[in-house]
Amino acid sequence: MCGIVGYTGRQAAAAVEPSTRPLEVVMEGLRRLEYRGYDSAGVALVAPGFDQVAWAKKSGKLSNLAAVIDASPLPDATAAIGHTRWATHGGPTDLNAHPHLADDGRLAVIHNGIIENFAELKAELLDQGVTFLSETDTEVAAQLLARNYRSAGNLTEAMRITATMLRGTFTLLAVHTDNPHTVVGARHDSPLVVGIGEGENFLGSDVAAFIAYTKEAMELAQDQIVTITPDSIDIIDFTGARAEGKRYTVDWDANAAEKGGFSSFMDKEIHDQPQAVADTLRGRTDASGHIQLDEIRIDEALLRSVDKIIVIACGTAAYAGQVAKYAIEHWCRIPVEVELAHEFRYRDPIVDAQTLVVAISQSGETMDTLMAVRHAREQGAKVLSIVNAHGSTIPRESDAVLYTHAGPEIAVASTKAFLAQITAAYLLGMYLAQLRGNKFSDEIDALLRELRAIPEKVETVIQRGEYVKATARSMKQATSVLFLGRHVSYPVAMEGALKLKELAYIHAEGFAAGELKHGPIALIDEGQPVFVIVPSPRSRTGLHSKVVSNIQEVRARGAKTFVIAEDGDDTVVPYADEIFWIPQAPTLMQPLLAAIPLQIFAMELATVKGLDVDQPRNLAKSVTVE
Ligand code: F6R
Repeated sequence: MCGIVGYTGRQAAAAVEPSTRPLEVVMEGLRRLEYRGYDSAGVALVAPGFDQVAWAKKSGKLSNLAAVIDASPLPDATAAIGHTRWATHGGPTDLNAHPHLADDGRLAVIHNGIIENFAELKAELLDQGVTFLSETDTEVAAQLLARNYRSAGNLTEAMRITATMLRGTFTLLAVHTDNPHTVVGARHDSPLVVGIGEGENFLGSDVAAFIAYTKEAMELAQDQIVTITPDSIDIIDFTGARAEGKRYTVDWDANAAEKGGFSSFMDKEIHDQPQAVADTLRGRTDASGHIQLDEIRIDEALLRSVDKIIVIACGTAAYAGQVAKYAIEHWCRIPVEVELAHEFRYRDPIVDAQTLVVAISQSGETMDTLMAVRHAREQGAKVLSIVNAHGSTIPRESDAVLYTHAGPEIAVASTKAFLAQITAAYLLGMYLAQLRGNKFSDEIDALLRELRAIPEKVETVIQRGEYVKATARSMKQATSVLFLGRHVSYPVAMEGALKLKELAYIHAEGFAAGELKHGPIALIDEGQPVFVIVPSPRSRTGLHSKVVSNIQEVRARGAKTFVIAEDGDDTVVPYADEIFWIPQAPTLMQPLLAAIPLQIFAMELATVKGLDVDQPRNLAKSVTVE
């Protein structure tokens, strides 16, 4: 949700290299951050001798901004900031695009988040005769920063004072012509990381902003101000006290965030899935094969005494949590509730020290989930987060973290993170079952073997993707698609519907197949496409025959049926218009396979409709507003 990048470099200052470098660095950072928002983009540059900030901004995708800069090149610079926007206050227009300028054009500000008290601050500034050009809350911050700079005479101190006056969530970056080698940032409940270079330093919403230049990064804590110059990184907190950032090395390289020859990031990330599952499993057992989740620093005695688990997450991550519920309850005999994070803290949930809250998030920045984490901890619960993005906020604020090792997920629609989240949650379930004595070690071994067999099976499903794609191409005219699943495949059905909504802009709904007869079956008429995920005929849930009956029921009413079934399950053949076969797997492992044809179907349908697969309309990758 808004991508932010800042850069300052000594080479550029000394003009050792072409001193357009800050612009190039910032544009490259924006290219890699565009998945966070693509309503508009803009840059601001400063250099010694500038009496005004040089800037360019344009509504729409980054390519529009690049065209503007090509047509009217910007001057050489020493420091730069750049922004790609997901609109909140004010529509996605040129005027509302960031940067926003103040102090007679000598100061430029970019912002991620929402300033909740912007109306009152704006009224105050209007009273003082300040004029505003945009409808954004950001311009209020820019004007406030300018006012504070005039009184404090120091950009860092002005930023600190400004930060304490703002309510809401924000990352702010600023440059001022008086400080042509400096970028100042502030962080409150919104992401910001530092990239450490030699004779150059970076700021970014996440490490993708600077991964092309350095893998050395520094985490900032909440409520901190950071000032970078080519040779220094200074951090203070909102009280003005000095602070230290936590250094780390990013464990993926720039290529991991490239398409690598695939037509889209989503296509690449679908193909990354065998690796994502394998990497998430790797190194999580000791020499004798026991599950060892070293990262979990929660006291074992406490984990043994937990009497309830609440999973909090949003969207796809919440569906991963719903899948995990079936497994964890079955293995550990602990009740598991799965709650949408944004609903959780507003309903007075029953949470205490015996509750383990599991927060699942790819980005680690989803504001709804972060707020739910804070609420759970305030109530005395321990929070364990399952997160993909290292250095993000949710793990920092959790008692423990289990990282998924899916690598960077760039496409806005989540794919490999979903499989990695299920895998990590299953590891947690097995670990708890082992710790609490619900399963013997040979049972755990057997489960681990099942899980370790999954990457190869995922590969098989992906290889069969051409048939799914051909089917999707024949569905270009579809206006509504229903998805049915039962038991552990019910959340997968909802995930399939979500993928289709967000990518192909088609009405889609996922139902528990058993619920069909209680109402939704009224939706079925001639030609209605219905996907059905069929449990294994070997499943001890006994649901196979019931779901096969559900297929017959919808078909009898005219539905066109798309059946996902296990290899060799010939019972479904007479009732399926199309069949997407998946390898045989135990019941609880099936979601890791059944989700894939649904991802491929949605991706291909969006492609034939000429839609942007990686950056669907109105969306952003990490939702950092509530
Ligand atoms: C759907 C999708 C979203 C995210 C949700 C949570 O394809 O990507 O539904 O799953 O916004 O995001 P994270 O996992 O980053 O907390």
